[in-house]
Amino acid sequence: MARYTHFKVWLDGKIVDPEDAKLSVFTLTVLRGANVYEGLRAYWNPAKKNLYVWKLDEHLKRLRDSMKVMRMQLPYSIDDLRAAVVEWLRANDFHDDVHFRLVAYFGDGGSGGVKSYRPDEIDTGAFILGGPRPHDDKLERGLKMGVATWRRIADDVVPARVKAGANYQNNRLAAVEARENGFDDAILLTQGGKVAEATGAAVMMVRDGHLVVPPVTDGVLESITRRSVLELYARQYGRPAVERSIDRTELYVCDEILIAGSAEEVTPVVAVDRMTVGDGTPGPITKTLQRLFFAAARGDDPTFATSLTPVYDVKEAP
Ligand SMILES: Cc1ncc(COP(=O)(O)O)c(C=O)c1O
Repeated sequence: MARYTHFKVWLDGKIVDPEDAKLSVFTLTVLRGANVYEGLRAYWNPAKKNLYVWKLDEHLKRLRDSMKVMRMQLPYSIDDLRAAVVEWLRANDFHDDVHFRLVAYFGDGGSGGVKSYRPDEIDTGAFILGGPRPHDDKLERGLKMGVATWRRIADDVVPARVKAGANYQNNRLAAVEARENGFDDAILLTQGGKVAEATGAAVMMVRDGHLVVPPVTDGVLESITRRSVLELYARQYGRPAVERSIDRTELYVCDEILIAGSAEEVTPVVAVDRMTVGDGTPGPITKTLQRLFFAAARGDDPTFATSLTPVYDVKEAP
């Protein structure tokens, strides 16, 4: 997260300067990647002069679910973490689009090593870091993806549903391989050879005019952006997206592909394995969903008002 080293950090209940945001080498988060986290966005709305966190409650719920599977107990409630997010954004006085992480970690102590999990055996803590993330032209340009030779971790091995830091070694192997092969990013298949997801986003395709997405049981993180895009699609087109497994070769013959995630937002994919997707430019359904997504997340679509957490106390027009 080198890009975020200039901004204050919320660490275990306190706002600290970045140079004081340190954890010990003896923590299980350092030694084993033992943490779960959320990657979130807050969007600046220039007309309303306010910053809005997108889908904060859904992220907090997923963090709670990840902690439950990992048998983690934090010394903070979900309400404490919600307040901490707003406190951290205010402390940095952000007036820009921001990307940030909320991390719950296993800390110091516990002679039991990987067996330690109870509060009497090991400390736990949390931190929030991040900063402004400028507009990326891949939103217009689209991505060239490659199907990874690495398979996605399975639910009965290391569950992809849990957003654990250590899971991302699987994504890293695939992402680095993709870069080495000249692609922007990778699409991973499940152990059974069906499309799972990209290294940091859900994958969707348009075939014969219908949006098709892998089910949440096909080795994916239960993406919050995926859910938002499905809702926007159903509203706009008057029919639900089709949730079913996707074959690798469907990626070659479909009309459009997009990836969706908090970091990746709604990004078109224009080629897979050097085969063009559709005519090789971002497709019309992708562009419509992108437009609707940004209107909702930035606070320009009143039907999504309850999905936004305002950061600053600004009087809003009725
Ligand atoms: C592996 C993976 N899949 C999907 C997503 C998208 O999830 P979300 O939309 O909740 O950010 C992410 C991003 O966090 C991710 O890392």
